[in-house]
Amino acid sequence: MTSVAAGTTRNLSISQADGERSTVEQRLIPISIMGKAYKVPAGATIMGAIEYAGHQIIRGAGCREGYCGACATLYRLPGDYKIYTGLACMTMVEEGMTLAQIPYVPAEKAIYDIEKLKPNVSAIQEMYPSVFRCVACNTCTKSCPQGLQVMDYIQAAKRGDIATVMDLSFDCVVCGLCMLRCPAEITQPLMAIMAKRLYGRYLRKDSPELAERVKAVESGVYDAEYLELMSMNRKDLSDRYYARDSE
Ligand code: FES
Repeated sequence: MTSVAAGTTRNLSISQADGERSTVEQRLIPISIMGKAYKVPAGATIMGAIEYAGHQIIRGAGCREGYCGACATLYRLPGDYKIYTGLACMTMVEEGMTLAQIPYVPAEKAIYDIEKLKPNVSAIQEMYPSVFRCVACNTCTKSCPQGLQVMDYIQAAKRGDIATVMDLSFDCVVCGLCMLRCPAEITQPLMAIMAKRLYGRYLRKDSPELAERVKAVESGVYDAEYLELMSMNRKDLSDRYYARDSE
């Protein structure tokens, strides 16, 4: 690992989301990673800074795009008593930041047969009774890097409102930060996964559009496009992906 004087600039190589490397001119700022001082590029994500500092991330990195939830991170800022949470691949470093990336949050996953459960409160009571320990402190919502209303879906679970749990937790990436911070030690994302499965199994509306699309796929109408994608190299695929229309 190379050490650099404070406030200096130089050509640096930092990790990019697609795993390639590029050279950029950056100011270096001091941060603390797991209690140790480093100078890292001011424009880096936490993940980029950790790697720039010389650490190889073996656990705690997946998509590097804010989708997989593997890179949960806790940090504090100078002169601020609060603990902040974020995804290391999406959160930028700040001067004086003190951080720890959390490679894994221990949690007990309920084992169930979805065919034997009903989409109501009894499934929650039986499989995730910890939900009923919620004290409505809202710490889960404040810790969610996705900005989800976690406490609201926990309240919905207590009412047996599976559709609302599914709806409010839909964008959960299961980073585990809510359950790490929860004083009642609830495993919010795991309960939400069960609710989504219950919704899919029992409550979802029929989708004629989906049936139509499946039929089209089976008819081979997209085969030429699939073959074209399969033959593309990584860069062309990446360009095509980022140029797509998205909501
Ligand atoms: S690595 Fe996937 S969300 Fe950060």
